[in-house]
Amino acid sequence: MRRSTPAESDTLSAMTRRKLGRRKVAEPDAATAERYFLRLSGWDIRNDPDSLPRFTSPSLFGNDHPLEMEVGCGSGEFLCHLAEESPETNFVGLDVHLKSLHKGIEAASGAGLGNIKFVGVDFRQAHPLLAPDSLAAVYLHFPDPGMKTREKRRRIFDRKFLDEMHVAVVEGGRMSLVTDDEGYFGQMLALIEADTRWRRTHEEPYLVGFEPGVKSRFQTLWERRGRKVFHFELRNRKSGIRRAEAVPHGS
Ligand SMILES: C[S@@+](CC[C@H](N)C(=O)[O-])C[C@H]1O[C@@H](n2cnc3c(N)ncnc32)[C@H](O)[C@@H]1O
Repeated sequence: MRRSTPAESDTLSAMTRRKLGRRKVAEPDAATAERYFLRLSGWDIRNDPDSLPRFTSPSLFGNDHPLEMEVGCGSGEFLCHLAEESPETNFVGLDVHLKSLHKGIEAASGAGLGNIKFVGVDFRQAHPLLAPDSLAAVYLHFPDPGMKTREKRRRIFDRKFLDEMHVAVVEGGRMSLVTDDEGYFGQMLALIEADTRWRRTHEEPYLVGFEPGVKSRFQTLWERRGRKVFHFELRNRKSGIRRAEAVPHGS
């Protein structure tokens, strides 16, 4: 099967979202929204962050179970599966695209899950709501690579993402990065190689392929198109690391 080029991949991504935009996805009713959904505006985050819930288990779920976050969770297939598998862990999915989130909410509510919430927010504006040592894991799977230079500059994964997550994720906590875009993959690889705070759990510089219990909509789409999937699995190291220190892989 012929592989899509990165430019085609972006177009496909936009088309998939447009398709979802046209499809009838019911908005959650008030009770379901109350249970599963939070919408946060950039204006409120900038001007009155203290009035908003932070991305912590006590704040979002009223308990102190470990919290895992997916940034750009789309319609939440991957996260809902994790929530079903691990009832003693909380999960929060963030995305700007509300119709995608409505699909996730529908799935979570249909399965009666009590340990997952979805937040409609632009992640690039959400950093004041991150709290130190509040996340057990963070997932960034198939982030939009962007086609134009301006869009590429606004990618979610960059040095700032690693900095913010280094603070928000607990010592030894996980970060999972997955992309099908070779350009984005190259950027991830370069930043990870230069960052001693995040230790790879694999000997190889990166893994090819990703086999979660349930594949997300975009993973299914890209794999059907014959695209190769790159994966990094990292662990956070908070103490005793100097930036210049070399870390042997897999140690
Ligand atoms: C290619 S989709 C991948 C979705 C999902 N992770 C999956 O594997 O199916 C990228 C997602 O990131 C979301 N996204 C893009 N920029 C974002 C931002 N700044 N903040 C939050 N979500 C964002 C998009 O709306 C979209 O749902």
